[in-house]
Amino acid sequence: MSKPGRADLVIVANRLPVDHVTLPDGTAGWRRSPGGLVSALEPVMRANEGAWIGWPGSGDDTEPEPFVEDGLQLVPMYLSEEEVREFYEGFSNGTLWPLYHDLVAKPEFHREWWDCYVRVNRRFAERAAQIANEGATVWVQDYQLQLVPQMLRELRPDLRIGFYLHIPFPPPELFSQLPWRRQLLEGLLGADLIGFQLPGGAANFVRLVRQRLGHKTHRDLVYLPDGRSVKAAAFPISIDAAGFIELARQESVMERAAAIREALGNPRKIFLGIDRLDYTKGIYARLRAFAELIAEGRLDVEDAVFVQVATPSRERVEQYRILRDDIDRLVGRINGDLGRIGRPAISYLHSSYPREEMAALYRAADIMVVTPYRDGMNLVAKEYVACRYDDQGALVLSEFAGAAHELRQAYMVNPYDINGMKSMLMEAFDADPKETAKRMRAMRKQVVDNDVTAWADSFLNEMAQVRPEHGKTVRP
Ligand code: G6P
Repeated sequence: MSKPGRADLVIVANRLPVDHVTLPDGTAGWRRSPGGLVSALEPVMRANEGAWIGWPGSGDDTEPEPFVEDGLQLVPMYLSEEEVREFYEGFSNGTLWPLYHDLVAKPEFHREWWDCYVRVNRRFAERAAQIANEGATVWVQDYQLQLVPQMLRELRPDLRIGFYLHIPFPPPELFSQLPWRRQLLEGLLGADLIGFQLPGGAANFVRLVRQRLGHKTHRDLVYLPDGRSVKAAAFPISIDAAGFIELARQESVMERAAAIREALGNPRKIFLGIDRLDYTKGIYARLRAFAELIAEGRLDVEDAVFVQVATPSRERVEQYRILRDDIDRLVGRINGDLGRIGRPAISYLHSSYPREEMAALYRAADIMVVTPYRDGMNLVAKEYVACRYDDQGALVLSEFAGAAHELRQAYMVNPYDINGMKSMLMEAFDADPKETAKRMRAMRKQVVDNDVTAWADSFLNEMAQVRPEHGKTVRP
């Protein structure tokens, strides 16, 4: 198969699961892109021979034909330079991202960004309308495409449409700041089923729909004037747990983990943070907390090191540039003040790594530190837990990550409380291995029993049940 046709399951996401890259020999090629969303949906796609519509991540404006890569039917949507600026960096990541993450940074409201968001959402909806078979299931992903469900329903009333929000859905008081709040709510209501990470997000949405649009609601159902009903419910996303466990058991990964420890000078304990370089992740405060512990003599650089991997992200957006400079400066200062020869307090890596290297880092780390101010789920926390099939290691986790609702045995912190965070880092550092093993076992069971396949199955099964008069179903 070289060219995809039409499909019974269509995923519509801002990103394709591959990036368009220029290879070292100058030719163009495709490379699997990192990110939780991609790894989450790939197995469902393969099982259903579906199509995936998305942006390949380059500013080119020539749209190539759909193609099949590694068994996946891919339909590229190119964004022009202006669209990258106004739709992606602007409205998606300069307005919605900070607003939906509790105003950790200040959202900017610009009418031309909104206009571009509407235009790009329309193009995605039109493309989905072309690709979807009669009666197909279309599953729209995330905050970049919230208008697609309604636009698509207008074009293709025969489709079953689902929407899933990977990031938090904010409380009504925050969402209501949006000048285009009504249009966004109506856009989402084009779906038959709207999935959120947590029940709180679904409840926020239903409350807003009642308050702002005046529709009748009952529990997780919204009743529209045209007789249709829409369900809004929580479907906490997860990871390919078995895949991570298998990876972490590979000899090459074990060897690499040992080599990492060795290269760090075999300290007694390794702390690890792995995040996209994003202001929601709480990287700055976490590094400060660790540095204070060293400065106060509660930890020693001979005993402990903090490895922080920060994956480059959204690098042209102002807030992200500022954050990068802030972290660069902080790490430099901490190491300058507290490090010794061959013993930096923080080993900082501004880079993205393949899954194998991530698994080796997870295996090497004694204390995984995940401290976002707000996070839809946080898959890194789940990946760490999956990789610790030996029941060793401790997870320090922010109570504001979606994952905290499931990984209840983590060492829980409030990332705004630096002293509290310091105490919890020490508690994890000093913990009795029996205690950490008990916690890790319970968390791993949770992740293994609720993996990404279970997530996709439960969403698609629920999709099959909404609007029973609609004959055709796609099943996982
Ligand atoms: C979050 C979002 C995804 C997004 C990913 C990477 O996980 O929920 O929709 O794809 O971050 O961000 P980027 O801007 O590089 O796509």
